[in-house]
Amino acid sequence: MNGVELSFPQRMRLERFKCAQSVDLHCHCLPGVDDGPADLEEALALCRTLVRDGFTKVIATPHQLGRWDGENFPEDVRKGVKDLQTHLDAHKIPLTILPGGEVRVDERIPKLLETDRISTLGDTKKYLLLELPSTLVMDPDLLMQHLFATGLHIVLAHCERYEFLFRNIASVEKWIEKGTILQVNAGSLTGAFGPGSQNAAWEWIRRGWISVVATDAHSLGTRRPRMTEAIDLIAERCGEEAAGRMCVINPSKLADGEELT
Ligand SMILES: [Fe+2]
Repeated sequence: MNGVELSFPQRMRLERFKCAQSVDLHCHCLPGVDDGPADLEEALALCRTLVRDGFTKVIATPHQLGRWDGENFPEDVRKGVKDLQTHLDAHKIPLTILPGGEVRVDERIPKLLETDRISTLGDTKKYLLLELPSTLVMDPDLLMQHLFATGLHIVLAHCERYEFLFRNIASVEKWIEKGTILQVNAGSLTGAFGPGSQNAAWEWIRRGWISVVATDAHSLGTRRPRMTEAIDLIAERCGEEAAGRMCVINPSKLADGEELT
């Protein structure tokens, strides 16, 4: 924590789940680097909203590779995080930002990790937040096999948003068996991304496949943070323990580079 007194929603979150931190591990909060906030003013507004949504810590995960190939290198992300933290502290916004990235699948990933050209979550070198394209022209299994060989734990970003996976349930099961961690967006649970993603998210939670929920927030518009709503919905349908595990406890462990149990 950055030394500023916690807000009421943050204290409520920590008390509710008896934890020391509430982490959003997938968030586009750095100003002017990707399709997140355009400038510092928008970034600070998003951070204030994340605080109101109960978070005490956020991993900044700007897009890397794909459309942003050649941009947003780890050294840039670290600098962006440091600068944003300075502004948060100056504005007494009680939020800690860590560096990370949302990495588009790419066969160069193992080499790019070795040379510090792409980021891991919280810079721990333990977890890679991996994004697949919205339409896949090749077998996703081949892509994933390639990444399993790197020995890194893969966190599959917003797994409920890839329509091709709805028809590839067997692949998803295989990836989970190999240790892939599935992340859903809080907004998918509330229906913000349409009925297809909403149904997949809830069905995969029912199957016990989802380990973590994150906001994937980009702005204060349609892609705003919705974690409090998601927690209440999960608690109502699956119980308080499941809501705490997916939305608070597991994200905290991933941010600290710990294993999920
Ligand atoms: Fe994202």
